[in-house]
Amino acid sequence: MKILFFDAKRYDEESFDEELKKYDDIAIDYIESDIGIKTVRLASGYDAVCAFVSSDLGKEVLDELKRMGVGLVLMRCAGFNNVDTEYAKQLGIKVLRVPGYSPEAVAEHAMALALAVNRHIHKGYIRVRENNFGLNGLMGINMHGKTAGIVGTGKIGAAMAKICHGIGMSVIAYDMVENPELSFAKYVTFDELLSDSDLISLHCPLSHSTYHMICTETIDKMKDNVILVNTSRGALIKTDDLIKGIRNKKFFGVGLDVYEEETANVFENREDDILETSVTARLMSFPNVIVTSHQGFFTKEALSSISETTLMNACDYKNGKIKPANEVV
Ligand code: NAI
Repeated sequence: MKILFFDAKRYDEESFDEELKKYDDIAIDYIESDIGIKTVRLASGYDAVCAFVSSDLGKEVLDELKRMGVGLVLMRCAGFNNVDTEYAKQLGIKVLRVPGYSPEAVAEHAMALALAVNRHIHKGYIRVRENNFGLNGLMGINMHGKTAGIVGTGKIGAAMAKICHGIGMSVIAYDMVENPELSFAKYVTFDELLSDSDLISLHCPLSHSTYHMICTETIDKMKDNVILVNTSRGALIKTDDLIKGIRNKKFFGVGLDVYEEETANVFENREDDILETSVTARLMSFPNVIVTSHQGFFTKEALSSISETTLMNACDYKNGKIKPANEVV
């Protein structure tokens, strides 16, 4: 099987090449460009393409894959909101993913953001580098004894709930499906979670029902001085409303690993570019906001799990034995 690997970074190549040693019937070519309408034709002659969170797998791209006889899209991530799944189904293109490579990696990053923004680590670090050892403006709050509200208690949300429980927080949760692993957590309505949480962490997928679930109406229901963390997908939060809320001093802190309009930025060094939107600049203008660039997944263990499952998916597809949990289409 020949796979064209789009949007390849050095760390991807290292991790996939290591895993590839187990297979003598799979070959991968890596290219830096991401898949999109201008680049999809490069996949001519390949059996599969490997894509990631910012790849364009809309109708036009899928049409072109079909025309070239590429029958398999290997998503090397859990989310697939960037794939037109209905259309892929119509075309008979299989889409496989890595449903849970390291939920702990993302949950630990979510907690890192919550703690960093709470204790002003970003400011403390810069101050000490400048020989400013003053503490004014750096006061945080104890997480111990406070209430964490976890929205979505699947794999990552459950890992985050356990971390919060571990540091002595009460955990409340909102999900349509209760996770039996979380006996210490209390399931509540979304409104109750908003009004009772000192820390709100978002862990549900982006869908019609979750799009802009955090907006002025829901922000108004939150406690004053709440900490909000999003490591899920940017569009769960309506950014303009979030900015309004930050200006109204609703938040003690906001930690974002994902944000709307991040697509052109994700994993790119754009220091010489004039950015097309002001979203990051506006968010970064606030002292109580920390933004990272979709790095929640980025641990050694997670990368090796991603390459292992992606190549296993390729192999299972070839052998006609696809694992249902990994099948998007
Ligand atoms: P999962 O499928 O295990 O869990 C998602 C949970 O959300 C499920 O329990 C589901 O019932 C719940 N849910 C769905 N709609 C909901 C709603 N309207 N309200 C409340 N709960 C709802 O998914 P997992 O692995 O925990 O991943 C969660 C999300 O994290 C992914 O969809 C992805 O967007 C994001 N992610 C971010 C990464 C990063 O690097 N920042 C890496 C991996 C995933």
